[in-house]
Amino acid sequence: MKHFLAEDSGSIREKVIILDFGGQYSMLIARRIREAGVYCELLPYNTSWMQIEKSKPAGIILSGSPASVNQEHAPSCDPAIFKGGIPILGICYGMQLLAKEMGGEVERGIRSEFGRTSFAIVEAEPFFKDDFFQEESACCCWMSHQDEVIKSPPGFNVLARTENNTIAAIGDHQKKIYGLQFHPEVFHTPGGRYILKNFLFDVCGCNRTWTPQSFVEDAVEKITEIIGEDQKVVCALSGGVDSSVVAFLLDRAVGERAVFIFVDHGLLRLEEAKQVVELYNERLKGQFIHVNAKERFLSSLAGVTDPEEKRRIIGAEFINVFKDKALSMGDITYLAQGTIYPDVIESGSVYGAAVIKTHHNVGGLPEELGFKLIEPLRELFKDEVRLVGAELGLPGSVLKRQPFPGPGLAVRIIGEVTDEKLSLLQQADAIFREEVLQAGLSEELWQYFAVLTDVQVVGVKGDDRHYGPVIALRAVVSEDAMTADWARLPHDLLEKASMRITGEISKVARVVYDITSKPPGTIEWE
Ligand code: XMP
Repeated sequence: MKHFLAEDSGSIREKVIILDFGGQYSMLIARRIREAGVYCELLPYNTSWMQIEKSKPAGIILSGSPASVNQEHAPSCDPAIFKGGIPILGICYGMQLLAKEMGGEVERGIRSEFGRTSFAIVEAEPFFKDDFFQEESACCCWMSHQDEVIKSPPGFNVLARTENNTIAAIGDHQKKIYGLQFHPEVFHTPGGRYILKNFLFDVCGCNRTWTPQSFVEDAVEKITEIIGEDQKVVCALSGGVDSSVVAFLLDRAVGERAVFIFVDHGLLRLEEAKQVVELYNERLKGQFIHVNAKERFLSSLAGVTDPEEKRRIIGAEFINVFKDKALSMGDITYLAQGTIYPDVIESGSVYGAAVIKTHHNVGGLPEELGFKLIEPLRELFKDEVRLVGAELGLPGSVLKRQPFPGPGLAVRIIGEVTDEKLSLLQQADAIFREEVLQAGLSEELWQYFAVLTDVQVVGVKGDDRHYGPVIALRAVVSEDAMTADWARLPHDLLEKASMRITGEISKVARVVYDITSKPPGTIEWE
């Protein structure tokens, strides 16, 4: 049995639902709405009206889609949505769909509109009434469509037109159903946040209830209610932001009835395990258990080179170590996990998604262990987890910690993992991180780390021929790890890191910098 699932979000005070038709910006719409202080959820486009109605949303957003509403088997939503009396905003495909469903006409445009366009306001209500739209540059927007609404449905007014005279926004004020041909959620639509704000607060009547403080209050109340007066909960603590936030929430909710297990697989960065132990021994006194399992993990990994096999072994070993410890403690009913919203989506629990890598912290653990599962962060994006962490008083060292893969440095050592390679990579990684910090760039980067490749090359050290491994440096900028761009690090920084790594680690023969974005690369090498 799982708690804190989407359909179980009783703790959420108000919400907006985004029906996802597979548009490239659906996740971004969700982020923008949350940033505006309103909780929202992405649901598959074909979610039934009955299910939607049950969760009493304040508004519904229909996302974009690569499809065309006129194609055969075009994705469509439950038509009852348009009669349900809940405010609706259709964006791009969403607008075309609602226009077609409600009696308007949609056709393939003479020319497609992609990229930046400007629009002229025909009616200021409800989207364009802010002073901001007095400026000409405010009426810029980002288009990405081929189809267009050529006739709005009965009862709808045209609210804006593009410079090509295409209908850019429509609305039925009475029914509170609106459509935008352009994307208000992207950076290139400067007035977008006003448009979304006006939809959320004026049209839907939302109240900005989604704040870190309200989340903490609601989550603590919910955890207390679920765990009850005398039950116990266990939580796997990695030292990362997500599990730390879960730990602090549990601690606040049930105090000593929460137990935290740190499975130290020995695959962390230099000194990291020590820091985790020091911090949590102090902050979660008596409730924190450190299990040093490095040897057990390394012996299971001996001789294994396949990346997925390494992940599988680490995942399985993690469960075993955790299980041994947790079950030895007796009467524990609940297991709390730090699963966050992108994990829920990326693992395909929300709608079909290809599995690129097995992220072992999603799924797996609970059923086998026989605990009831609590996932208090299931609804949060990563940046929201950090805000909640700050609200809970987590130290900066944890809040600013880079995302780190569950299987640790094992997926940054190409080929077999050995103790010797681990220590070499830890040193190279520590040097690179130190240099990035010194250059003051750590907060601009999503992740930055070193990888130990399995390539051996020739070099010259002193006056001698040297034959040794290549270290690759990787630094990326990203919003949410779904996509990432390689970071344009200053050459001086790269030079210093390279000099230090080849100079201070005698074995390393060469340092290279990874200039692959995601896609087509992934952030990690394995
Ligand atoms: P990729 O390499 O898929 O990584 O682009 C995306 C983000 O996920 C992290 N990552 C993992 N996190 N368990 C985790 O908890 C894993 O097995 C795992 N693999 C990758 C990666 O560091 C990046 O932030």
